[in-house]
Amino acid sequence: MSGTLVLRAGLAGLALAALATGLATPAEAAKVSHVKKAPFGTTVKGEKVQIYTLTNKNGLEARIATYGGTIVSLKTPDKAGKLANIVLGFDRIEPYQKGVPYFGALIGRYGNRLANGTIVIDGQTYKLPQNDGTNTLHGGPKGFDKVVWQAKPYEDKNGPGLKLTYVSADGEMGFPGALTVHVTYQLRNDNALSIDYEATTDKPTVANLTNHSYFNLTGDTDTPILDHLMTINADKITPVDKRLIPTGDLKDVTGTPFDFRKATAIGDRIGADDEQLKLAGGYDHNWVLNQPKPGEEILAAKVVEPKSGRTLEVRTVEPGVQFYAGNFLDGKPAGVGTVFKHRTGFCLETQHYPDSPNQPNFPSTELRPGQVYKTHTVFVFGVEK
Ligand code: GLA
Repeated sequence: MSGTLVLRAGLAGLALAALATGLATPAEAAKVSHVKKAPFGTTVKGEKVQIYTLTNKNGLEARIATYGGTIVSLKTPDKAGKLANIVLGFDRIEPYQKGVPYFGALIGRYGNRLANGTIVIDGQTYKLPQNDGTNTLHGGPKGFDKVVWQAKPYEDKNGPGLKLTYVSADGEMGFPGALTVHVTYQLRNDNALSIDYEATTDKPTVANLTNHSYFNLTGDTDTPILDHLMTINADKITPVDKRLIPTGDLKDVTGTPFDFRKATAIGDRIGADDEQLKLAGGYDHNWVLNQPKPGEEILAAKVVEPKSGRTLEVRTVEPGVQFYAGNFLDGKPAGVGTVFKHRTGFCLETQHYPDSPNQPNFPSTELRPGQVYKTHTVFVFGVEK
């Protein structure tokens, strides 16, 4: 091949890469060569959904759909270096639209439960649609997990990333204020997935954003997660009533099945005779993180899967983390194909405490015009031999 031809082939390749990443010019595409874009189907309303594949320099791979900003799959190596998917998800859009329990999705405006579907801001009461008994859960029946986000891929020296944007209209799901939300995922070259959240509002409102990935570090999403060793950096939880709404107390974990200050298998005490475990059908609680200063980034949790050697560290600036052991997964098909059995995934949802707007003693989740809501969480992947 002549030099010109090679050059042409190279340019054609770049043009193709530009098409694949959805970027305007080959030059832009070259800069984000570790992000690929492909169609992921169409919503029932006819919106086109894309899936972006981010690959870091060590071959770790995160696939993120614009529907719900959902992490659809996440491949990390085991102690032998073998890559496998460590999150519950589907390779097509249909099951997500049939109402799966928030697999991998972005959650908003308010992650976790709000009692009686009610919030009060500046003395004004707002009624929100209830979708969990009398509670509003995870932003309501059509939360941020069920909307299509705008996406912009990027890449910098730390790795490939995807910046997602969604503008939630004033009054959407009953919440006041138009909320402009940016969530940036980056699959870092140091084998971490960082999630940065930012939001602004034009009226006083509340915000509590998180991601709802179900992890299974075995690399086999059919295996229960009960042998995973969990450590949570927290002396207390926010105990709940039968609606799974916090009572407002902070409960010391000492001597209870909620003490994960030393690495303990998830399954060791999950069936213990404990009122809190019975109320939630297992672990589904908010741990109050031992955070020396509000807003300081800490290691919130660490999980080790002994067979594969995979480890997951969760670092965050949030004051709480909901550890949910997949108790509601029941093996029923979510419409089409794959089923997920009882406790085959666990979630570590970094967050402000549940029901904070109705709990005067919890850190505030209010957001006012002129303020910028900013938070971040990092999932760090490693191995122990
Ligand atoms: C959260 C909640 C759980 C459950 C799951 C989804 O983790 O705390 O109670 O609703 O989401 O099934």
